[in-house]
Amino acid sequence: MSNKKIKTLLVFGTRPEAIKMCPLVQKLQKNPKFDAKVLVTAQHRQMLDSVLKLFDIVPDYDLNLMKPNQNLWELSSNILLGTKEIFDTAKPDLVLVHGDTTTAGLSALSAFYSRIKIGHVEAGLRTFDKDYPFPEEINRVLVDSISDLMFCPTDKAKENIEKSGISKGIYKTGNTVIDALLYVVNNKEANLDFIGLDPNLKTILLTSHRRENFGKPLEEICRAIKELIQKNKDIQVVYPMHLNPNVRNTVKPILEGIERIKLIEPLDYAPFCSLMKKSHIILTDSGGVQEEAPSLGVPVLVLRDETERPEAIEYGGVKLVGAHREKIVSSVQHLIDDNEAYQKMSKAVNPYGDGIACDYIEKIIENYYSV
Ligand code: UD1
Ligand code: UDP
Repeated sequence: MSNKKIKTLLVFGTRPEAIKMCPLVQKLQKNPKFDAKVLVTAQHRQMLDSVLKLFDIVPDYDLNLMKPNQNLWELSSNILLGTKEIFDTAKPDLVLVHGDTTTAGLSALSAFYSRIKIGHVEAGLRTFDKDYPFPEEINRVLVDSISDLMFCPTDKAKENIEKSGISKGIYKTGNTVIDALLYVVNNKEANLDFIGLDPNLKTILLTSHRRENFGKPLEEICRAIKELIQKNKDIQVVYPMHLNPNVRNTVKPILEGIERIKLIEPLDYAPFCSLMKKSHIILTDSGGVQEEAPSLGVPVLVLRDETERPEAIEYGGVKLVGAHREKIVSSVQHLIDDNEAYQKMSKAVNPYGDGIACDYIEKIIENYYSV
């Protein structure tokens, strides 16, 4: 393959995949050894497009699949059929997918059926519980089991794959989310005036969108927020609500119209990074936010009972509190009242990477094709 370019097709579909794949797209498209193209499933639409715009990336192929309140069966079938057609035309040497979404799982399966090599970015994350997170745990197990190259963010992720009996193609690279975060924090400072935050209050940032938290658990989270706002006159809460209607239909009836709670639309990535930086505490069930916040020195309380990202918990910047009202209230109150505990959690140490994961991935692929 020495005189030939490496035909690489990067496939993604949701906001977090875009944030974590765009720095890699930029890197590979600058490298003359690669012919790097982008296929988006558009499992997300607005939330995907805002990231593509930020990184100035125009997809070569767009399946435009998102439907309001879509279900896993139809989305999965459409990804399988849609990607097959593009793979038949584009004939890539290597398909790169990211993480654990339906886009990642079904695009990788489709590439496997087409006998195309697969590279998995953010490989090896596990809770070892097929129901949490659902359906992501099974997607990542599937993708790793059929990948030729696995780019693991941490030693632990690498070990998880090795323990499953796979022995070849596993590399530790760091997480590309840190490449994206540092790029944005250093180059795209955003103005947050439009949110109307009170500079005299401490800001608590909330995000929640996981399927396992739909219904009762999300209600518990919202009731905890309401209680905290009533107890603490010196805090304000900002919740950029995910566009999934299952989130909004639960959140709005409980939290809308309450003083010092701002329910806002999802933020573009640059303002979201600025808001993370400004926040006193972050409450989240997001995977990406758990990885980013430790770089900014902001304590994170995770609204889940388990996580596939245990490293930051070991480092002390992140704690699991689940989606239980009392536990959330007492954990936040503790951080508000106990400055020593707060300072302990707000060390800016990040176990997920140093911002050069894309360089590692680029070199590993070059070596694999010996160019
Ligand atoms: C998906 C992923 C989840 C990931 C999350 C990141 C799966 C099964 N789930 O969950 O792993 O953590 O993305 O955010 O792959 N919507 C819009 N516009 C958008 C995006 C979503 O209107 O730009 C609404 C639509 O009604 C859509 C719904 O949200 O049908 C759900 O989107 P979907 O991708 O199926 O699920 P998420 O909850 O976003
Ligand atoms: N994010 C964003 N705007 C928001 C909320 C989150 O840009 O309003 C970013 C966040 O910084 C992180 C990513 O989106 O990089 C996480 O996406 P999400 O929580 O939807 O998915 P997950 O990471 O849980 O799969």
